[in-house]
Amino acid sequence: MLGSGFIGRFYADSIQGYRSQDKVVSIYSRREESARKFAEDYAVPFWTTTMEEAIARPEVDIVCISLPNNLHEEAVMLCCKHKKAVMTTKPLGRNAAEAKRMLEAVEAAGIFNGYLEDLVYTPKFIKAEQSVRNGALGRILWAKSRETHPGPHSDWFWDLEQAGGGCILDLGCHCVEITRSYIGKDIKPVEVMCWADTQVKPIEAEDHAIGLVKYENGAIGQFEVSWTFRGGLDLRDEVMGSEGTIWINSFLRTGFDMFTTGKGGDYVAEKAESNTGWLFPVGDELNELGYNHMFMDMFNALEKGEAPKETFYDGYVVNAVLDAAYRSAKSKLWEPVNLEVWRGREGVGKDSHLIEWDADHYLVKEEMTHYGAKKLILKHKVSGAFIQKVLE
Ligand SMILES: NC(=O)c1ccc[n+]([C@@H]2O[C@H](COP(=O)([O-])OP(=O)(O)OC[C@H]3O[C@@H](n4cnc5c(N)ncnc54)[C@H](O)[C@@H]3O)[C@@H](O)[C@H]2O)c1
Repeated sequence: MLGSGFIGRFYADSIQGYRSQDKVVSIYSRREESARKFAEDYAVPFWTTTMEEAIARPEVDIVCISLPNNLHEEAVMLCCKHKKAVMTTKPLGRNAAEAKRMLEAVEAAGIFNGYLEDLVYTPKFIKAEQSVRNGALGRILWAKSRETHPGPHSDWFWDLEQAGGGCILDLGCHCVEITRSYIGKDIKPVEVMCWADTQVKPIEAEDHAIGLVKYENGAIGQFEVSWTFRGGLDLRDEVMGSEGTIWINSFLRTGFDMFTTGKGGDYVAEKAESNTGWLFPVGDELNELGYNHMFMDMFNALEKGEAPKETFYDGYVVNAVLDAAYRSAKSKLWEPVNLEVWRGREGVGKDSHLIEWDADHYLVKEEMTHYGAKKLILKHKVSGAFIQKVLE
């Protein structure tokens, strides 16, 4: 494990908690006291303040990168040097150029690579995605994902150089991979329109943004991200298809409401802003945030010698989409997604979606009225005229 902070601890809780056969055997942290404390808390036999030493240990099967964004590349290159399987937290890079270098390096080294995008492994997402893939929603037209909270928990996130961006990069990376997964990861994201601003915080980066990602098949992805949202961690997805709809609330309203006058523990849930009054705790954060299913997939894939569901390639695509978002926020125009590496389908147009009613008409819609009549709206194929039929 590289990094002993916020996500390193969530990951360790999940890695050691779920299958119990997986163990953190070596921990690197910048400061000795943090490395030592992590080693004590998680019964890790080896700790060090030298990154390469932690990676090179013979008992290490896979390296988990839980470091600030500006250190991902250095850590990945060391894994390549020592031919160690690697999994990296999000975002893969601070931009697509960094992500591409990492992708090319792991592939040249021939090492297992996993992209730790936990939010496509949440129980709700897994079920929703299955329904989408089974066709329950028909053709996916629009997929929106929203992640907003009152801002990150460590100094480096707020520094543009170390973080590489503001909430677009930090939170938008989740939203882009979620919406891309609903739309189909083989469908090419082609252009992005994005509004971003720094509305509240004294920072160079954006603290609030909304973006639209256009896909080659006509589907649209939408992300809403903020570091200035008040009220906790808001994680929601909405998917609209030609045959159905999904709404998911993953965190702030999960059907668990609690009231307290404030006596007792301080921790309610990630980024919760209050510990008194009506609260919205999360039953099992590790599971609800997808960490358990994510590490199951990573380790199962590693053991079988297969690629996991999320690889560095996915991290690279996400970075390329977000680079276009940053360009659009500046230019105020739709900006193309520059994908120098693309492994999905090419030239996918809008699928034919017209429903034939009879030889002459397409069906526009049907509706059962409150007065018991079934109405059909039809369009004549040649004249284009709309007519209605009432079936008693
Ligand atoms: N849901 C998620 O997937 C999720 C959530 C939070 C963070 N993250 C990602 O995890 C990574 C780490 O974030 P975090 O929240 O754990 O941050 P953190 O600040 O809590 O922890 C970062 C760790 O890196 C160490 N570190 C900081 N600066 C360093 C430096 N210059 N040299 C060496 N080590 C240094 C810290 O000591 C700490 O151990 C980031 O890439 C972030 O985007 C992912």
